[in-house]
Amino acid sequence: MVMATTILVGAQWGDEGKGKIIDVLTEQADVVVRYQGGNNAGHTVEVGDQKYVLHLIPSGILHPGKISVIGNGVVVDPAALLGEIEHLRGRGVSIDGNLYVSETAHLVFPYHKLLDEIREEQKGKRKIGTTKRGIGPAYADKVARTGLRLVDLLATERFSGKLRRKVQENNEIFKAFGAKPLSFAKINDEYVECGRKLRPFITDTVTLLNRAVRDGKNILFEGAQGTLLDIDFGTYPFVTSSNATAGGACVGTGVPPHKVDRVVGVMKAYTTRVGEGPFPTELLDNQGTLLRETGREFGATTGRPRRCGWFDAVATRYAVMVNGIDELAVTKLDVLDGLPKVKVCVAYKVGGKVYETVPNDIDLLQRCTPMYQEFDGWQTSTKLAQDFDQLPKRARVYLQKLAQLSGAKLSIVSVGARREETIFL
Ligand code: IMP
Repeated sequence: MVMATTILVGAQWGDEGKGKIIDVLTEQADVVVRYQGGNNAGHTVEVGDQKYVLHLIPSGILHPGKISVIGNGVVVDPAALLGEIEHLRGRGVSIDGNLYVSETAHLVFPYHKLLDEIREEQKGKRKIGTTKRGIGPAYADKVARTGLRLVDLLATERFSGKLRRKVQENNEIFKAFGAKPLSFAKINDEYVECGRKLRPFITDTVTLLNRAVRDGKNILFEGAQGTLLDIDFGTYPFVTSSNATAGGACVGTGVPPHKVDRVVGVMKAYTTRVGEGPFPTELLDNQGTLLRETGREFGATTGRPRRCGWFDAVATRYAVMVNGIDELAVTKLDVLDGLPKVKVCVAYKVGGKVYETVPNDIDLLQRCTPMYQEFDGWQTSTKLAQDFDQLPKRARVYLQKLAQLSGAKLSIVSVGARREETIFL
Protein backbone atom coordinates (compact mmCIF):
# COMPACT_ATOMS: atom_id res chain seq x y z
CA MET A 1 0.00 0.00 0.00
CA VAL A 2 1.51 3.33 -1.08
CA MET A 3 1.29 5.91 1.67
CA ALA A 4 -0.17 9.32 0.96
CA THR A 5 -2.12 11.81 3.04
CA THR A 6 -4.83 9.46 4.22
CA ILE A 7 -8.03 9.70 6.21
CA LEU A 8 -8.86 6.52 8.07
CA VAL A 9 -12.48 6.11 9.16
CA GLY A 10 -14.66 3.49 10.78
CA ALA A 11 -17.22 2.16 8.30
CA GLN A 12 -19.61 0.72 10.90
CA TRP A 13 -20.62 1.64 14.48
CA GLY A 14 -17.09 2.04 15.86
CA ASP A 15 -14.73 -0.60 17.27
CA GLU A 16 -13.81 -1.76 13.76
CA GLY A 17 -10.20 -2.33 14.79
CA LYS A 18 -9.01 1.08 13.58
CA GLY A 19 -6.25 1.22 16.21
CA LYS A 20 -4.46 -1.75 14.73
CA ILE A 21 -4.81 -0.54 11.10
CA ILE A 22 -3.59 2.94 12.05
CA ASP A 23 -0.67 1.32 13.79
CA VAL A 24 0.38 -0.58 10.67
CA LEU A 25 -0.17 2.42 8.38
CA THR A 26 1.84 4.68 10.68
CA GLU A 27 5.02 2.97 9.43
CA GLN A 28 4.68 5.10 6.29
CA ALA A 29 3.25 8.25 7.88
CA ASP A 30 5.11 11.23 9.33
CA VAL A 31 2.27 12.72 11.34
CA VAL A 32 -0.79 11.03 12.87
CA VAL A 33 -3.68 13.28 13.89
CA ARG A 34 -6.95 12.75 15.76
CA TYR A 35 -9.68 15.06 14.44
CA GLN A 36 -12.84 14.43 16.50
CA GLY A 37 -14.29 12.74 19.53
CA GLY A 38 -12.58 12.58 22.88
CA ASN A 39 -11.73 9.97 25.46
CA ASN A 40 -14.98 8.17 24.60
CA ALA A 41 -12.78 6.40 22.04
CA GLY A 42 -10.64 3.40 22.87
CA HIS A 43 -8.06 2.21 20.38
CA THR A 44 -6.37 -1.05 21.22
CA VAL A 45 -2.92 -1.73 19.77
CA GLU A 46 -0.73 -4.78 20.38
CA VAL A 47 3.00 -4.40 19.84
CA GLY A 48 4.91 -7.61 20.45
CA ASP A 49 3.61 -8.92 23.77
CA GLN A 50 2.57 -5.44 24.92
CA LYS A 51 -1.02 -4.23 24.74
CA TYR A 52 -1.87 -0.52 24.73
CA VAL A 53 -5.32 1.07 25.00
CA LEU A 54 -5.30 4.69 23.84
CA HIS A 55 -8.20 7.08 24.33
CA LEU A 56 -7.05 10.56 23.30
CA ILE A 57 -3.49 10.21 22.08
CA PRO A 58 -3.19 9.02 18.45
CA SER A 59 -1.94 5.45 18.05
CA GLY A 60 1.02 6.92 16.13
CA ILE A 61 2.69 7.67 19.47
CA LEU A 62 3.79 4.04 19.68
CA HIS A 63 6.13 4.62 16.71
CA PRO A 64 9.26 6.48 17.79
CA GLY A 65 10.03 9.53 15.67
CA LYS A 66 6.49 10.13 14.43
CA ILE A 67 4.55 13.23 15.35
CA SER A 68 1.17 12.73 17.04
CA VAL A 69 -1.37 15.54 17.05
CA ILE A 70 -4.68 16.05 18.84
CA GLY A 71 -6.52 18.34 16.45
CA ASN A 72 -8.89 21.25 17.09
CA GLY A 73 -11.95 19.07 16.48
CA VAL A 74 -11.24 16.87 19.50
CA VAL A 75 -12.70 17.59 22.95
CA VAL A 76 -10.03 17.16 25.60
CA ASP A 77 -10.44 16.07 29.20
CA PRO A 78 -7.08 17.38 30.45
CA ALA A 79 -6.83 15.06 33.45
CA ALA A 80 -7.52 12.07 31.20
CA LEU A 81 -4.89 13.30 28.73
CA LEU A 82 -2.29 13.74 31.46
CA GLY A 83 -3.14 10.30 32.82
CA GLU A 84 -2.51 8.83 29.37
CA ILE A 85 0.76 10.75 28.97
CA GLU A 86 2.01 9.52 32.37
CA HIS A 87 0.93 5.97 31.67
CA LEU A 88 2.75 5.88 28.32
CA ARG A 89 5.84 7.56 29.79
CA GLY A 90 5.85 4.93 32.52
CA ARG A 91 5.94 2.24 29.86
CA GLY A 92 8.89 3.85 28.11
CA VAL A 93 7.00 5.49 25.23
CA SER A 94 8.66 8.70 24.11
CA ILE A 95 6.19 11.60 24.38
CA ASP A 96 8.14 14.83 24.69
CA GLY A 97 8.62 16.51 21.34
CA ASN A 98 6.36 13.91 19.68
CA LEU A 99 2.94 15.01 20.91
CA TYR A 100 1.07 18.26 20.20
CA VAL A 101 -2.41 19.35 21.25
CA SER A 102 -4.41 22.03 19.49
CA GLU A 103 -4.85 25.25 21.42
CA THR A 104 -8.31 25.61 19.90
CA ALA A 105 -9.54 22.18 20.99
CA HIS A 106 -12.36 22.47 23.52
CA LEU A 107 -12.11 21.27 27.10
CA VAL A 108 -14.31 18.71 28.82
CA PHE A 109 -15.25 19.66 32.40
CA PRO A 110 -16.74 17.75 35.34
CA TYR A 111 -20.08 19.51 34.72
CA HIS A 112 -20.15 18.00 31.22
CA LYS A 113 -19.72 14.53 32.68
CA LEU A 114 -22.41 15.10 35.29
CA LEU A 115 -24.80 16.49 32.65
CA ASP A 116 -24.10 13.45 30.45
CA GLU A 117 -25.04 11.17 33.37
CA ILE A 118 -28.14 13.12 34.37
CA ARG A 119 -29.45 13.30 30.79
CA GLU A 120 -28.98 9.57 30.32
CA GLU A 121 -30.78 8.88 33.57
CA GLN A 122 -33.64 11.19 32.60
CA LYS A 123 -34.05 9.42 29.28
CA GLY A 124 -34.70 6.10 31.04
CA LYS A 125 -35.49 3.48 28.43
CA ARG A 126 -34.74 5.90 25.60
CA LYS A 127 -31.16 6.45 26.76
CA ILE A 128 -28.35 6.60 24.17
CA GLY A 129 -25.96 4.43 26.15
CA THR A 130 -23.18 7.05 26.09
CA THR A 131 -19.73 6.45 27.55
CA LYS A 132 -20.55 9.15 30.19
CA ARG A 133 -17.32 10.97 29.38
CA GLY A 134 -19.16 14.29 28.93
CA ILE A 135 -18.60 14.32 25.18
CA GLY A 136 -22.10 15.41 24.07
CA PRO A 137 -22.38 18.31 26.59
CA ALA A 138 -18.83 19.50 25.75
CA TYR A 139 -19.64 19.70 22.02
CA ALA A 140 -22.97 21.34 22.89
CA ASP A 141 -21.06 24.14 24.69
CA LYS A 142 -18.70 24.49 21.72
CA VAL A 143 -21.59 24.96 19.30
CA ALA A 144 -23.44 27.25 21.74
CA ARG A 145 -20.22 29.35 21.87
CA THR A 146 -19.92 28.99 25.62
CA GLY A 147 -17.07 26.46 25.67
CA LEU A 148 -13.56 26.91 27.02
CA ARG A 149 -10.55 25.93 24.95
CA LEU A 150 -7.00 24.88 25.72
CA VAL A 151 -5.81 28.35 24.79
CA ASP A 152 -8.00 29.71 27.63
CA LEU A 153 -6.35 27.32 30.04
CA LEU A 154 -3.05 29.12 29.43
CA ALA A 155 -4.52 32.54 30.29
CA THR A 156 -5.31 31.76 33.91
CA GLU A 157 -7.24 34.88 34.87
CA ARG A 158 -9.53 34.83 31.85
CA PHE A 159 -9.96 31.09 32.29
CA SER A 160 -11.05 31.38 35.92
CA GLY A 161 -13.56 34.15 35.15
CA LYS A 162 -15.24 32.12 32.40
CA LEU A 163 -15.14 28.92 34.42
CA ARG A 164 -16.80 30.58 37.43
CA ARG A 165 -19.77 31.58 35.25
CA LYS A 166 -20.01 28.12 33.69
CA VAL A 167 -19.98 26.36 37.06
CA GLN A 168 -22.65 28.74 38.41
CA GLU A 169 -24.86 28.20 35.37
CA ASN A 170 -24.53 24.43 35.56
CA ASN A 171 -25.07 24.31 39.32
CA GLU A 172 -28.52 25.84 38.73
CA ILE A 173 -29.30 22.90 36.45
CA PHE A 174 -27.92 20.37 38.95
CA LYS A 175 -30.05 21.93 41.70
CA ALA A 176 -33.17 21.41 39.59
CA PHE A 177 -32.30 17.71 39.29
CA GLY A 178 -31.49 17.34 42.99
CA ALA A 179 -27.79 16.73 42.26
CA LYS A 180 -24.98 18.13 44.42
CA PRO A 181 -23.45 21.40 43.14
CA LEU A 182 -19.85 21.35 41.90
CA SER A 183 -17.10 23.42 43.49
CA PHE A 184 -15.67 26.13 41.24
CA ALA A 185 -12.50 26.39 43.36
CA LYS A 186 -11.78 22.68 43.14
CA ILE A 187 -12.26 22.50 39.38
CA ASN A 188 -10.31 25.71 38.86
CA ASP A 189 -7.32 24.48 40.87
CA GLU A 190 -7.31 21.14 39.13
CA TYR A 191 -7.56 22.63 35.62
CA VAL A 192 -4.97 25.37 36.19
CA GLU A 193 -2.57 22.67 37.37
CA CYS A 194 -3.38 20.54 34.31
CA GLY A 195 -2.76 23.60 32.13
CA ARG A 196 0.65 24.06 33.69
CA LYS A 197 1.59 20.45 32.97
CA LEU A 198 0.13 20.44 29.45
CA ARG A 199 1.68 23.76 28.38
CA PRO A 200 4.64 22.19 26.50
CA PHE A 201 2.24 20.21 24.31
CA ILE A 202 -0.28 22.97 23.50
CA THR A 203 0.32 24.71 20.20
CA ASP A 204 -1.15 26.04 16.94
CA THR A 205 -1.61 22.64 15.32
CA VAL A 206 -3.38 24.11 12.27
CA THR A 207 -0.16 25.84 11.22
CA LEU A 208 1.95 22.86 12.27
CA LEU A 209 -0.12 20.48 10.12
CA ASN A 210 -0.27 22.77 7.11
CA ARG A 211 3.51 23.22 7.24
CA ALA A 212 3.88 19.44 7.31
CA VAL A 213 1.64 19.18 4.23
CA ARG A 214 3.62 21.93 2.48
CA ASP A 215 6.85 20.04 3.22
CA GLY A 216 5.46 16.91 1.58
CA LYS A 217 4.99 14.95 4.80
CA ASN A 218 2.46 12.14 4.92
CA ILE A 219 -0.40 12.79 7.29
CA LEU A 220 -2.61 10.05 8.64
CA PHE A 221 -5.96 11.25 9.99
CA GLU A 222 -7.12 8.89 12.72
CA GLY A 223 -10.91 8.69 12.83
CA ALA A 224 -12.57 7.63 16.08
CA GLN A 225 -16.02 6.00 16.48
CA GLY A 226 -17.60 5.17 13.12
CA THR A 227 -19.78 6.37 10.23
CA LEU A 228 -23.06 5.16 11.72
CA LEU A 229 -22.22 7.06 14.95
CA ASP A 230 -21.58 10.35 13.09
CA ILE A 231 -23.70 13.26 14.35
CA ASP A 232 -24.95 14.01 10.80
CA PHE A 233 -24.77 10.67 9.02
CA GLY A 234 -25.34 8.20 11.85
CA THR A 235 -28.44 6.65 13.37
CA TYR A 236 -29.48 9.90 15.11
CA PRO A 237 -30.08 10.38 18.02
CA PHE A 238 -28.16 7.16 18.83
CA VAL A 239 -24.87 8.69 17.74
CA THR A 240 -21.87 10.46 19.18
CA SER A 241 -21.64 14.27 19.04
CA SER A 242 -18.96 14.76 16.39
CA ASN A 243 -18.32 14.13 12.69
CA ALA A 244 -16.57 10.78 12.68
CA THR A 245 -16.78 10.66 8.87
CA ALA A 246 -14.07 11.82 6.44
CA GLY A 247 -15.44 15.38 6.21
CA GLY A 248 -14.68 15.79 9.90
CA ALA A 249 -10.96 15.36 9.22
CA CYS A 250 -10.69 18.73 7.48
CA VAL A 251 -12.75 20.78 9.93
CA GLY A 252 -11.16 18.96 12.84
CA THR A 253 -7.58 19.79 11.80
CA GLY A 254 -7.59 22.78 9.43
CA VAL A 255 -6.03 20.76 6.59
CA PRO A 256 -7.94 21.64 3.39
CA PRO A 257 -9.87 18.91 1.50
CA HIS A 258 -7.78 19.04 -1.69
CA LYS A 259 -4.68 18.09 0.31
CA VAL A 260 -6.15 14.69 1.11
CA ASP A 261 -5.13 11.88 -1.23
CA ARG A 262 -7.33 9.01 -0.18
CA VAL A 263 -9.78 7.58 2.32
CA VAL A 264 -9.42 4.15 3.90
CA GLY A 265 -12.48 2.59 5.55
CA VAL A 266 -12.06 0.02 8.28
CA MET A 267 -14.74 -2.60 8.82
CA LYS A 268 -14.98 -5.80 10.77
CA ALA A 269 -15.80 -9.04 8.94
CA TYR A 270 -19.04 -8.93 10.99
CA THR A 271 -20.75 -6.07 12.86
CA THR A 272 -20.77 -4.83 16.46
CA ARG A 273 -22.31 -1.91 18.28
CA VAL A 274 -22.04 -0.62 21.88
CA GLY A 275 -24.79 1.47 23.40
CA GLU A 276 -28.39 1.66 22.30
CA GLY A 277 -29.96 2.26 18.89
CA PRO A 278 -30.94 0.35 15.76
CA PHE A 279 -28.77 -2.55 14.64
CA PRO A 280 -30.58 -4.52 11.90
CA THR A 281 -28.24 -7.53 11.78
CA GLU A 282 -27.92 -7.96 15.56
CA LEU A 283 -27.89 -11.60 16.69
CA LEU A 284 -29.66 -12.04 20.01
CA ASP A 285 -29.12 -15.80 20.10
CA ASN A 286 -26.15 -18.11 20.75
CA GLN A 287 -24.58 -17.07 17.47
CA GLY A 288 -24.25 -13.51 18.83
CA THR A 289 -22.75 -14.80 22.07
CA LEU A 290 -20.29 -16.91 20.10
CA LEU A 291 -19.13 -13.89 18.07
CA ARG A 292 -18.77 -11.83 21.27
CA GLU A 293 -16.70 -14.50 22.98
CA THR A 294 -14.57 -15.47 20.00
CA GLY A 295 -13.98 -11.83 19.03
CA ARG A 296 -13.52 -10.68 22.66
CA GLU A 297 -16.10 -8.01 21.99
CA PHE A 298 -16.03 -5.92 25.14
CA GLY A 299 -15.65 -2.12 25.08
CA ALA A 300 -12.09 -0.79 25.35
CA THR A 301 -13.33 2.31 27.20
CA THR A 302 -16.25 1.11 29.33
CA GLY A 303 -15.79 -2.69 29.32
CA ARG A 304 -19.42 -3.07 28.20
CA PRO A 305 -20.25 -6.21 26.17
CA ARG A 306 -20.69 -5.26 22.52
CA ARG A 307 -23.81 -6.25 20.62
CA CYS A 308 -22.80 -8.56 17.76
CA GLY A 309 -24.29 -9.47 14.38
CA TRP A 310 -23.62 -10.40 10.77
CA PHE A 311 -21.91 -8.12 8.29
CA ASP A 312 -24.26 -5.38 7.09
CA ALA A 313 -23.44 -4.39 3.51
CA VAL A 314 -26.26 -1.82 3.43
CA ALA A 315 -24.47 0.08 6.21
CA THR A 316 -20.97 -0.28 4.71
CA ARG A 317 -22.18 0.74 1.22
CA TYR A 318 -23.53 3.89 2.82
CA ALA A 319 -20.20 4.41 4.62
CA VAL A 320 -18.31 4.07 1.33
CA MET A 321 -20.60 6.71 -0.17
CA VAL A 322 -20.49 9.38 2.57
CA ASN A 323 -16.77 9.04 3.24
CA GLY A 324 -15.66 8.53 -0.35
CA ILE A 325 -13.82 5.40 0.76
CA ASP A 326 -11.26 4.30 -1.84
CA GLU A 327 -9.82 1.32 -0.01
CA LEU A 328 -11.13 -1.10 2.57
CA ALA A 329 -9.42 -2.75 5.49
CA VAL A 330 -11.35 -5.78 6.77
CA THR A 331 -10.46 -6.79 10.32
CA LYS A 332 -11.05 -9.79 12.57
CA LEU A 333 -11.58 -12.24 9.72
CA ASP A 334 -10.14 -14.95 12.00
CA VAL A 335 -13.13 -14.60 14.37
CA LEU A 336 -15.28 -16.30 11.71
CA ASP A 337 -12.80 -19.16 11.15
CA GLY A 338 -14.77 -21.85 12.95
CA LEU A 339 -18.23 -21.13 11.56
CA PRO A 340 -19.97 -23.57 9.18
CA LYS A 341 -22.00 -20.73 7.59
CA VAL A 342 -21.55 -16.96 7.44
CA LYS A 343 -24.15 -14.43 6.39
CA VAL A 344 -24.10 -10.97 4.83
CA CYS A 345 -27.03 -8.57 4.89
CA VAL A 346 -27.62 -7.28 1.34
CA ALA A 347 -30.84 -5.30 1.90
CA TYR A 348 -33.40 -4.47 4.60
CA LYS A 349 -37.08 -5.28 4.56
CA VAL A 350 -40.00 -3.63 6.34
CA GLY A 351 -43.62 -4.60 5.72
CA GLY A 352 -42.92 -6.09 2.30
CA LYS A 353 -40.83 -3.11 1.13
CA VAL A 354 -37.15 -3.63 0.34
CA TYR A 355 -34.54 -0.97 1.22
CA GLU A 356 -31.11 -0.97 -0.33
CA THR A 357 -30.06 2.20 1.49
CA VAL A 358 -30.20 3.02 5.21
CA PRO A 359 -33.59 4.63 6.02
CA ASN A 360 -33.20 7.95 7.84
CA ASP A 361 -36.38 7.50 9.87
CA ILE A 362 -35.08 5.93 13.07
CA ASP A 363 -38.37 4.12 13.86
CA LEU A 364 -38.41 2.62 10.38
CA LEU A 365 -34.78 1.54 10.75
CA GLN A 366 -35.63 -0.08 14.11
CA ARG A 367 -38.23 -2.21 12.35
CA CYS A 368 -35.96 -3.27 9.47
CA THR A 369 -35.23 -6.96 9.16
CA PRO A 370 -32.13 -8.05 7.23
CA MET A 371 -32.21 -9.93 3.94
CA TYR A 372 -29.22 -12.26 3.95
CA GLN A 373 -26.97 -13.95 1.48
CA GLU A 374 -25.42 -17.06 3.01
CA PHE A 375 -21.89 -18.35 2.44
CA ASP A 376 -20.18 -21.60 3.34
CA GLY A 377 -17.66 -21.11 6.13
CA TRP A 378 -13.98 -21.97 5.54
CA GLN A 379 -13.63 -23.74 8.90
CA THR A 380 -9.87 -23.50 8.97
CA SER A 381 -7.52 -21.04 10.62
CA THR A 382 -6.62 -17.91 8.68
CA LYS A 383 -4.17 -16.61 11.30
CA LEU A 384 -0.99 -17.71 9.60
CA ALA A 385 -1.82 -16.44 6.11
CA GLN A 386 0.84 -14.02 4.90
CA ASP A 387 -0.82 -13.01 1.66
CA PHE A 388 -4.25 -13.10 0.11
CA ASP A 389 -3.62 -16.28 -1.87
CA GLN A 390 -2.78 -18.16 1.30
CA LEU A 391 -6.29 -17.60 2.64
CA PRO A 392 -8.79 -20.45 2.21
CA LYS A 393 -10.78 -20.10 -1.03
CA ARG A 394 -14.07 -19.64 0.81
CA ALA A 395 -12.61 -16.83 2.92
CA ARG A 396 -11.41 -15.12 -0.25
CA VAL A 397 -14.86 -15.45 -1.81
CA TYR A 398 -16.40 -13.97 1.33
CA LEU A 399 -13.97 -11.03 1.44
CA GLN A 400 -14.39 -10.26 -2.24
CA LYS A 401 -18.15 -10.24 -1.74
CA LEU A 402 -17.85 -7.79 1.18
CA ALA A 403 -15.76 -5.43 -0.96
CA GLN A 404 -18.01 -5.77 -3.99
CA LEU A 405 -21.21 -5.16 -2.02
CA SER A 406 -19.64 -2.22 -0.18
CA GLY A 407 -18.31 -0.73 -3.41
CA ALA A 408 -14.61 -0.18 -2.72
CA LYS A 409 -11.30 -1.94 -3.28
CA LEU A 410 -10.09 -4.42 -0.67
CA SER A 411 -6.59 -3.48 0.37
CA ILE A 412 -5.91 -4.84 3.86
CA VAL A 413 -7.11 -7.95 5.68
CA SER A 414 -6.39 -8.38 9.36
CA VAL A 415 -6.37 -11.89 10.84
CA GLY A 416 -5.24 -11.11 14.38
CA ALA A 417 -4.38 -8.29 16.75
CA ARG A 418 -0.62 -8.32 16.13
CA ARG A 419 1.18 -6.22 13.52
CA GLU A 420 2.41 -9.34 11.73
CA GLU A 421 -1.13 -10.67 11.34
CA THR A 422 -1.90 -8.31 8.47
CA ILE A 423 -2.28 -9.04 4.78
CA PHE A 424 -1.71 -6.26 2.22
CA LEU A 425 -3.27 -6.76 -1.19
P1 IMP B 1 -20.78 9.27 23.58
O1 IMP B 1 -19.84 9.43 22.45
O2 IMP B 1 -20.12 8.90 24.88
O3 IMP B 1 -21.70 10.45 23.73
O4 IMP B 1 -21.73 8.02 23.25
C1 IMP B 1 -22.65 8.04 22.18
C2 IMP B 1 -22.74 6.69 21.49
O5 IMP B 1 -21.52 6.45 20.81
C3 IMP B 1 -22.92 5.51 22.44
O6 IMP B 1 -23.70 4.53 21.77
C4 IMP B 1 -21.52 4.99 22.63
O7 IMP B 1 -21.49 3.63 22.99
C5 IMP B 1 -20.96 5.22 21.24
N1 IMP B 1 -19.50 5.37 21.22
C6 IMP B 1 -18.77 6.45 21.62
N2 IMP B 1 -17.46 6.23 21.44
C7 IMP B 1 -17.35 5.01 20.90
C8 IMP B 1 -16.24 4.22 20.47
O8 IMP B 1 -15.07 4.62 20.51
N3 IMP B 1 -16.54 2.99 19.96
C9 IMP B 1 -17.81 2.54 19.85
N4 IMP B 1 -18.87 3.23 20.25
C10 IMP B 1 -18.64 4.45 20.77
